[in-house]
Amino acid sequence: MSEPVFVAFATQKGGAGKSTLTALTASYLHYIEGIDVMVMDCDDRQHSFKDYRDNDFLVTNENPYLKRAVMNFYRNFGKKAYEIILTNPGDAVGVALDRLEEGVSPQVVFFDITGTVNDLSIVKLLSRMDYLFVPITTDTADMKSSIRFASHVVNNMLTTGKTKIKGVNLVWNRIPSKSKTRLCDMIDGYVEELGLQSLDTVLSNSSRFFKDGATTGRNGLFRSTMMPPDKRLLKGSNLPELVAEIRKIINV
Ligand SMILES: Nc1ncnc2c1ncn2[C@@H]1O[C@H](COP(=O)(O)OP(=O)(O)O)[C@@H](O)[C@H]1O
Ligand SMILES: [Mg+2]
Repeated sequence: MSEPVFVAFATQKGGAGKSTLTALTASYLHYIEGIDVMVMDCDDRQHSFKDYRDNDFLVTNENPYLKRAVMNFYRNFGKKAYEIILTNPGDAVGVALDRLEEGVSPQVVFFDITGTVNDLSIVKLLSRMDYLFVPITTDTADMKSSIRFASHVVNNMLTTGKTKIKGVNLVWNRIPSKSKTRLCDMIDGYVEELGLQSLDTVLSNSSRFFKDGATTGRNGLFRSTMMPPDKRLLKGSNLPELVAEIRKIINV
């Protein structure tokens, strides 16, 4: 079995979509593409990824429509839901490696990390990743922060050889349209000069991201840690394109 790839969506600023994109990508790979994943929830203050799973359990237990959908899905899936391990930035890699020693063999391990500045344990954790994806939005403050973060990683970590990171890519998220806006293109031109690049696929600001289940109704789930996204919500989401682009980069 080859070594799993370590991947993190990372940026300093909270709210850019790190946990959301981690969940969407992990679930799409695991439940649709048959790629085994494991998720390390490194946010020891909030454990937001674990909250997603708890919410998934809650809504699928209480909503008969979702309960049936889960049962139908697992009848054919033949595998379990991916594992989510609660940890902290300092211990995350060690805990993941212990789990691999125990014989678990995911092809990709995602590390969901908080957006904390100047935290040495987070910097060390980031340096152990194979690939970083940096969510960036068109909000001016977010944009600055993501560019500064990515540029710091590329210029201070990558070039000095202090890390095993093989690639850093910006990912436009929460933008007003389904393809890059003029602002995105302008910024892409600017970041290229800093030695950075962004993915072609973009994710628009969309209400489907809030569809993580309700205890009533027949609304499917878009972001679930136990199920693939509902087909109706997947349409036009650009998620398949995003995952395809990520797979090419991380070579999985
Ligand atoms: N493309 C999007 N469209 C609409 N809402 C989004 C999108 N991406 C993320 N969100 C929402 O933004 C909020 C912050 O996202 P989150 O993933 O928690 O950010 P982070 O982990 O970087 O702090 C969440 O409420 C999430 O549902
Ligand atoms: Mg988060």
